[in-house]
Amino acid sequence: TSNAMWGGRFADAPDAIMEAINASIGFDKRLAPQDIAGSRAHAAMLAATGIIEASDAEAMRKGLLTVLSEIEGGTFEFSTALEDIHMNVEARLTEIMGPAAGRLHTARSRNDQVATDFRLWVRDQLDLAEGQLLALLRALLAQAEAGAEWVMPGFTHLQTAQPVTWGHHMMAYVEMFGRDLGRVRDARARMNECPLGAAALAGTSFPIDREMTAEALGFDRPAANSLDAVSDRDFALEYLSVASISAMHLSRFAEELVIWSSAQFRFVTLSDRFSTGSSIMPQKKNPDAAELIRAKIGRIFGAQVALMTVMKGLPLAYSKDMQEDKEQVFDAADNWALALAAMEGMVRDMSANVDALEAAASSGFSTATDLADWLVREAGMPFREAHHVTGTLVALAETRGCDLPDLTLADMQEVHGDITEGVFDVLGVHNSVASRTSLGGTAPVRVREEVARWKEIVG
Ligand code: ARG
Repeated sequence: TSNAMWGGRFADAPDAIMEAINASIGFDKRLAPQDIAGSRAHAAMLAATGIIEASDAEAMRKGLLTVLSEIEGGTFEFSTALEDIHMNVEARLTEIMGPAAGRLHTARSRNDQVATDFRLWVRDQLDLAEGQLLALLRALLAQAEAGAEWVMPGFTHLQTAQPVTWGHHMMAYVEMFGRDLGRVRDARARMNECPLGAAALAGTSFPIDREMTAEALGFDRPAANSLDAVSDRDFALEYLSVASISAMHLSRFAEELVIWSSAQFRFVTLSDRFSTGSSIMPQKKNPDAAELIRAKIGRIFGAQVALMTVMKGLPLAYSKDMQEDKEQVFDAADNWALALAAMEGMVRDMSANVDALEAAASSGFSTATDLADWLVREAGMPFREAHHVTGTLVALAETRGCDLPDLTLADMQEVHGDITEGVFDVLGVHNSVASRTSLGGTAPVRVREEVARWKEIVG
């Protein structure tokens, strides 16, 4: 038998393959709460504008609530023949309240329906991400506050560069995830327009009230252009862009945690709760959560590329291609949420090995820049000359197998006669970080100010 929704024009039922390629119910059932919210708003508006009878709208309201509870209770029987969530819900509503359910689709198309449902879903995910980012920021701030004075090596090229504080390193991630938070909020503000009422593509001749449905669904306003409203997926792409950038940040941090937790670095100890063991090597404690964060990020990047590719060739307005938006976004959203949660847990639980951090900070000639700066300040040397003199001292220390503070004053004076005992004051790592008080610098005093500033922001 032909399709119940458009069977009027069709003599034959679809081929099984047609059904398989066409059906989206397997994944878009996740939109059920949003679909029912959209339908309730639409039904109420149809009654308020006199397009349908109030008694029909009331039966729809009750019926839709029944459908929702059946879906939430797991008793709803989804049908692939009914293609998607919209037709599954409507078919069940018809069973519950009879043929008057067919009035619900007045002045509406699945095109504006799915655009509305999906926007509501993505908006919920943005709200979830906002909360998760705030939680992660709080975990990082706690680490930064505890370790505002702990000294660790700062790297460039993953080679020892200059000492920095643990707090400063944590606060770098606070800046990154803080920008993600800003992007989440920006994206939410931009996407919060309601497509409902655009109908198939051109609007409708029924006297609908789009302001009413937009407001009922928590949108700031109705989308202005009906063609754009049904064919726009920027909100999903922007969600994926924000998620991708944030995922990249998560992956960089995960990479650092993998390195830092190795026996060679020993900068941090990850908690048992966020580590796994080996089935053969009894000593092992592996940073699997960090590795999986690093790896899962690929799905999020992939989703963005996939959806960009789906959209890039589509003429206005709706094309069925757009049904491919959902699985990508669902998968990216699930994995971003999981990665944010895992990172927050790891950061909360991890303990810095303060002694190992300081020992590492003190090796690798990390205070060579401090020595060069001292020559500029105390001996009036041009920086380039000071750089050269310091380089000679590093080479000397290297041949001696020691670090800069281990050279004697006599060693130093042989390289340059202007060097005095005072130079040793700047060769210690604590002095080094304490001296970097420039705005945005690593000095503990600056880090504490930044922690206080961010605590105000995240509450
Ligand atoms: N399942 C479809 C989707 O996800 C709903 C919209 C279908 N519209 C249509 N004209 N076939 O995009």
